[in-house]
Amino acid sequence: MSHLIAPSLLSADFANLEQDIKMINNSDADWFHIDVMDGLFVPNISFGFPVIKAIKKHAKKPLDVHLMIVDPDRYLEEFKNVGADIITIHYEAVTHLHRSIQKIKSLNVKAGVVLNPHTNVILLEDIISELDLVLIMSVNPGYGGQKFIENTYSKISKLKNLIKQKNSNALIEVDGGIGISNINKLVEAGADVLVAGNAVFGATNPIDTIKQLKYL
Ligand code: DX5
Ligand code: ZN
Repeated sequence: MSHLIAPSLLSADFANLEQDIKMINNSDADWFHIDVMDGLFVPNISFGFPVIKAIKKHAKKPLDVHLMIVDPDRYLEEFKNVGADIITIHYEAVTHLHRSIQKIKSLNVKAGVVLNPHTNVILLEDIISELDLVLIMSVNPGYGGQKFIENTYSKISKLKNLIKQKNSNALIEVDGGIGISNINKLVEAGADVLVAGNAVFGATNPIDTIKQLKYL
């Protein structure tokens, strides 16, 4: 499988969302990455259900919903109802991770776990075979446009080994500080899905940048 590109709408123009969604529809991007922040789990607040519902109306590609919220169990069903195709929850934000993952899968939504930069991939050893994907944060969550953390490469390799060892089908997604300069090395290390916010929406020609990220 060639790697997938998931532009993060956090860096889109919120006053012209429809235009940015259509741009992604017409690009080589694979998924829409949707960052939900609650001002508690992370220091920032982004957007919620009405905005995701509006995005879904125009989006022709899967919605990859990254929940940076405490106690996400309270809202899983509602995220499904507004159009999530993939839901990822933070390892650091739930107590009964196994139960939360089962709940997402029971909604017929792909389920993933997100790891903050300090969280060791080995903590997924007993759940990796249940996961559709693992999202490795390559910045501390909360904001777009931050600097990529170099330790991410070794986390990807460790996770890749764990996935093999446990015969898991989980995809490896990486999020934060990704662009033309580091995408090759990330794919070589084993990343399957690459999120890019600032690199796409801050570019003079986003369509062209997405093509470069996809086929570099
Ligand atoms: C950070 C978010 C990211 C962010 C990525 O908390 O999870 O998805 O939008 O943005 P860039 O690519 O600009 O680092
Ligand atoms: Zn994200």
